[in-house]
Amino acid sequence: MSSKVRVGLLGLGTVGRSVFDTLSANHELISARAGADVEVAAVAVKSLDHDWGIDRSLLTDDALGLASDPSIDVVVEVMGGENPAGDCIRASLSRGASAVSANKELIAKQIASLVSLAQENGADFRFEAAVGGGIPILQPLQHQLGSNRFIELKGILNGTTNHILTEMRTRGISFDEALDEAQDLGYAEADPTADVDGWDALYKITILSSLITGQQVSIDSASLNGIRGIALAEIEAAEAKGERLKLIASAQFGDAPEISVSVQSLPHEHPLAAISGATNALWIQADPLGEVTLSGPGAGGGPTAAAVVGDIVEAVRCRNMGTVSPPWPISS
Ligand code: HSE
Repeated sequence: MSSKVRVGLLGLGTVGRSVFDTLSANHELISARAGADVEVAAVAVKSLDHDWGIDRSLLTDDALGLASDPSIDVVVEVMGGENPAGDCIRASLSRGASAVSANKELIAKQIASLVSLAQENGADFRFEAAVGGGIPILQPLQHQLGSNRFIELKGILNGTTNHILTEMRTRGISFDEALDEAQDLGYAEADPTADVDGWDALYKITILSSLITGQQVSIDSASLNGIRGIALAEIEAAEAKGERLKLIASAQFGDAPEISVSVQSLPHEHPLAAISGATNALWIQADPLGEVTLSGPGAGGGPTAAAVVGDIVEAVRCRNMGTVSPPWPISS
């Protein structure tokens, strides 16, 4: 294999570590599929004082410097949060480098401007891992489902809250105990408020809605209610009626998209009622397709890294062909 592709990894938290490990463990098959030798050239971390357990010569604490480095071909942003992640992605796209991100908050809030910047600079920008963790959603939506008029989406798009609701229901434990477990399993955000209060699910349904409508959808237009403080008695009362409580992110595409995140009581027969643990699922109603449900592991290092590294492989394949595969256009 002649060419080398240098990856700059921004962030070494749960997801960053799994991306690093996947690129190393599957180096041969990834490079064969990508058509180039894909190597991690540098990793940006918060502090150089910590022992990160990887070769110190790879480490830098200058994420923006790494994203701006012309020798880096693919920038992988797994830091989370709006800043400095946004500045780093803009620096990468502005110089035509490929950028891969798992950052749902940033992308939900700024998808139109980021996609436009990528297109203006002929840069490849991918963010499959930002919605549904390891479930292929954004690429199938924009490719195999690309002929459809979308009518409605309903999703379980947050693994932490689905895990909490499942554990409370099946083991009769409290909200706080179940949250602690979800954090230990690496599902929760650094600040689990984003999970519990529904923000994380809102970011994901906003990304989907912006892609589908071709307009930047504002998170401020949504109705938002999470699961904080939900009582075991409420879950048990729903079960007694043959229903199951789920945190549902939904979007309806009428004249203007209507977006909400709320606890809904679904009949046991509903395809989303059977989705347990950190599994995510997205139910799509579209014309002429009808209905389809995509489901799989929605949180955790391994599944999220699988989606991130899948994007890296595709970005490298596009680079080799001198092309990009842009997301659907989105106006601001
Ligand atoms: N905290 C998120 C979740 C991680 O629980 O789904 C994946 O976005």
